[in-house]
Amino acid sequence: MKLAKVDAAQLAAQTEPLAEEILAGLRAEPKHIAPKYFYDRKGAALFDAITGLDEYYVTRLEAAIFRRYRSEICAAIGAGVHLVEPGAGSCEKIRWLLPDLQPQLYTPMDISAEHLYASVTRLRKDFPSLNVAAQVCDHTAGLRLRDDLPDVPRVFFYPGSSIGNFESEAAVDFMRTMRSAISGRGGLLIGVDTKKDKSVLHAAYNDRAGITAQFNLNVLDHLNNLLGGDLDPANFIHVARYNETLGRIEMYLQSTRQHCAVLAGERLEFAAGECIHTENSYKYYPQEFIALAQRAGFVPQELWQDEQAWFSVMYFSAY
Ligand SMILES: C[S@@+](CC[C@H](N)C(=O)[O-])C[C@H]1O[C@@H](n2cnc3c(N)ncnc32)[C@H](O)[C@@H]1O
Repeated sequence: MKLAKVDAAQLAAQTEPLAEEILAGLRAEPKHIAPKYFYDRKGAALFDAITGLDEYYVTRLEAAIFRRYRSEICAAIGAGVHLVEPGAGSCEKIRWLLPDLQPQLYTPMDISAEHLYASVTRLRKDFPSLNVAAQVCDHTAGLRLRDDLPDVPRVFFYPGSSIGNFESEAAVDFMRTMRSAISGRGGLLIGVDTKKDKSVLHAAYNDRAGITAQFNLNVLDHLNNLLGGDLDPANFIHVARYNETLGRIEMYLQSTRQHCAVLAGERLEFAAGECIHTENSYKYYPQEFIALAQRAGFVPQELWQDEQAWFSVMYFSAY
């Protein structure tokens, strides 16, 4: 009986701040949900499926850039570094650099403990000599790295254009956080999606198989499971459009009819046609992005692109 009380208290302590953050977004005008809530087990699997879609050029081109320029990229980073990857997810992209790059330590970080540990287990099996110190954290709440890590150059690895999910000012702040976690030599290897024809962008986020739609809608099930609720994905449709003025893809869940739902005991009302904003994905010309990274204290060193200049991989040093 006593144990059950303790468990209940612990559970409440974990879910209350989450509930507050999520409900604040759903009470706001317009309603919004942070993209970090996409990633329960199903969301992570759907994201991995997206990366294999024909229309989703992002991963395909980023992989091609790494294949073509791997030795230059590894030379820019240097050997023996501490490689830190926020939002590492499946830890697939570090494989593009191994075994050529021989980091002294690899720290993948992710908000989803289950997904991270499963990925690290697979990685350790394939690269038994790689030292891995994984860390579960919400990197939007700060990058608190363990203080018992080796004092070697620290290089952040942030592929997939995940930086595009931040508002531009928040992207500068996040890069500043990475920059201040580097005390001596080190840098940032980052993948950035570039501005391009609207039709290409539209197709990438509105794939014919409907996987991106499933990914977007799945956030509702994730919230129901996290907080207790009856948000019904059948009452919403996936909307993704390119906002040319702001240079970003905007993703929404649009309510198809007027209805109410309950989440964490709170009643939420949705008008017909009302949208929940679930994600932005900013696109940058290289010069635009370089200016943001410089404001965060990084020094541009290298830029690698595919032939059409649809995707950029950049290396910045800390000095
Ligand atoms: C779009 S996936 C990218 C995975 C991988 N880096 C790639 O480029 O393919 C985003 C990953 O970041 C994690 N993530 C999202 N927001 C996060 C946050 N605020 N803190 C930590 N991890 C986060 C998710 O759980 C997911 O595994």
